[in-house]
Amino acid sequence: MGKNGAGKSTLLKMISGAIQPDAGNVKLGASLKLGYFSQQALDLLDPDLTVIEQMQQDFPMEGLGVLRNLLGAFQFSGDDVDKRIRALSGGEKSRLVMARMLFDPPNFLVLDEPTNHLDLATKEMLIDALKDFEGTMIFVSHDRTFLRGLASRVLELGGEEHDGPLVFGGSYLEYVERMGREAPGVHN
Ligand SMILES: Nc1ncnc2c1ncn2[C@@H]1O[C@H](COP(=O)(O)OP(=O)(O)OP(=O)(O)O)[C@@H](O)[C@H]1O
Ligand SMILES: [Mg+2]
Repeated sequence: MGKNGAGKSTLLKMISGAIQPDAGNVKLGASLKLGYFSQQALDLLDPDLTVIEQMQQDFPMEGLGVLRNLLGAFQFSGDDVDKRIRALSGGEKSRLVMARMLFDPPNFLVLDEPTNHLDLATKEMLIDALKDFEGTMIFVSHDRTFLRGLASRVLELGGEEHDGPLVFGGSYLEYVERMGREAPGVHN
C-alpha cells in the first residue's frame, strides 16, 4: 500500500529482477518460480497473433480444447479467441496475461495492480482463482474487494504517520480496523 509515487511498483520490479536496487540486494528462495504481472506485461503480447495463437505459442504441447477451456474461464468465449491482440482492450489483454500466468502457475506471484482494467465479473473470478492459489503472492492493489479477499498481511510504504515501511501482520480488514482508515489510495 502507499500513495502514488511511494515506490510500490519499484519494489515489485526489484523483487522480480526487472530493475536492480541502487543499494542493498534482493534474495529469492532457491526453488522459487516467479510470475510477474504489470501493466507493461500487457505490451509484451504479440500484437499480430490472435488470442488462441498466442496461447498455442506459449503452450505448444497443449491441445486446442484445453486452451479454449482455459480462455473460456477467463471470459473469452466463442469467436473472442480469434481476435487479434492488437485489437484487444486493456481488460481483455489483462485477462489473457492472467490466463497464461495461471495455466501453469508459478509458486510466487508478483502482481502490480492486476485488477486495473477488469470489469466486476472478471475481478471476482480472479479473486476466486487466486484464493485457491497455494503459493505466495505479493501485490499492489487499490481495490478494496481484492484487498479484502486476498491480503493476509499489509506493507505500507511512505506513510506520514511512520518512518520507513510499515509492516502489519494481519489481514487488510484487520489493518483497516486498527488504523481506523482505508490504506492510501484505496477505492471500491
Ligand atoms: N526508473 C526510474 N528512475 C528514477 N525514478 C523513478 C524510476 N521509476 C520510478 N521512479 C520514481 O520513483 C518513485 C516511485 O515510483 P513507483 O512507480 O514505484 O510508484 P508507485 O508507488 O508504484 O506509484 P503509483 O501508485 O502511481 O503506481 C516516483 O517518484 C517515480 O517518479
Ligand atoms: Mg505503481
